[in-house]
Amino acid sequence: MKNNLLRVNLINLRDFGKGNYRQLDDYAFGSGGMVFAAPQLKAALDYANLESKNIKPFVVYPSPQGVLINQELIESLAHQEHVIIFCGHYEGLDERFVEKYVNLEVSIGDCVLTGGELPAMIMIDSMSRLVPGVVGKTQAVIEDSFYRGMLDNPNYTRPFEWEGLRVPEVLLSGNDKQVSHWRRREAVKRTLTRRPDLISRASIRDYLADKVRVLIIAHDENIELESLGALCEAYELSRSYVLAKSHELREKIKNLYPEAKVLGSLDKILSEDNLLIVKIFSGSKNNSLHSLEVKRRCLEHEGSILFIFAQDESELESEALEGVSSYLYESEINNVSLNILIGTALDRFLGKR
Ligand code: ADE
Repeated sequence: MKNNLLRVNLINLRDFGKGNYRQLDDYAFGSGGMVFAAPQLKAALDYANLESKNIKPFVVYPSPQGVLINQELIESLAHQEHVIIFCGHYEGLDERFVEKYVNLEVSIGDCVLTGGELPAMIMIDSMSRLVPGVVGKTQAVIEDSFYRGMLDNPNYTRPFEWEGLRVPEVLLSGNDKQVSHWRRREAVKRTLTRRPDLISRASIRDYLADKVRVLIIAHDENIELESLGALCEAYELSRSYVLAKSHELREKIKNLYPEAKVLGSLDKILSEDNLLIVKIFSGSKNNSLHSLEVKRRCLEHEGSILFIFAQDESELESEALEGVSSYLYESEINNVSLNILIGTALDRFLGKR
C-alpha cells in the first residue's frame, strides 16, 4: 500500500445506519436472528461506487454459504480493478441485496466465523501477493502451494542437523536437476496423500518433467504430423514416434514427413525399464480407467510414461504390449480423427486446468 501497488479503503457500515442508533440490522423474518437491511447496504455500496469512477466494481460477500475460495478464484479476483467486499455478521445480509448487487458469495472453508472481516483480510492478502512487486521474488509466488494446483514441497534451513533430524542430502548436493526432481516428487507425494482432490484441477505437466513420450499408431498416411508436432511442442513433449506396421506405410510417412521417427515395431521403445504405458483410443471398453485415475497414476509413477494413441482399440492389441504394465483410457469423444483424439487427451492429462 505504501508503494501504491494497491489501495484498500475501509468503509464503516455504521455511517449508513438509520436513526439515532444508526441502525443497520433488523430481526430476520421467520428465524429471529439479526440481518443487515438492504437499504443501508445499498447506501454503503453507492458510496463505495464513487471510488470506482468508470470501473464496474466486483462485489464479493464472504459467507459460509458461498463457493469455496481457491487460488484460481483469487487469481480472477486479483484481475479486477475494484473489488468491494461486504462483511456480514450474525445472519448476514438481506438476500435481496445479495441477489441484486453481489457478484459472488464466497466461503473460506467449512467452518463458521463471527463475521466476514477475517475472510476479507484473507482475500486481500492472497490477492495482493499476486500484484507484481508486492512479493519480492515472483518465482516464489509461482512455486507456492496451489499455484499449479499442487501442494508445495517441504522446506528446510540451517542447522543441517536438528534434534537428530537431517536435511535431505539431495538439497545440499548443489545439483540443480536432482534438486528440482526431488522437489517435484515431494510435491507430488504430498498432494497424492493429503489432497488427492486437487489432482483434477492440477496442471501436472511440470511434475512429469520430460518423462512423457507419445506414440501414434498410424493405419494410413493421413496423420497430419505437422499439427501433431505443434501439439507435442505445446505440451513440451520432446519425443514422439509413429508406429506403422507395413513397410509401405512407413515409406509413405517418411516421404511425407522426413523428420518423423517412424517405427516398425514396439520392441525398442518398450525395452526401457519402469515404463508406464497409457493406451488411449476413441471408443468404449469396460476395463478402461477414468482420466482422473490415469492422471493420478501418471503422477505416482517414477519412471517414463508412454502415451500410445490409436484410432480404435483393436490397434492397441499387440503382442509386444502383452504383459507390459499399462492402463487403458477411452476418450468419450467417438468417431473423431486421431489428431482430435490426441489433442483432447493431451489437454485432459497435461493441459492447464
Ligand atoms: N462468515 C462466517 N463464516 C464464514 C466463512 N466460513 N467463510 C466466509 N465468510 C464467513
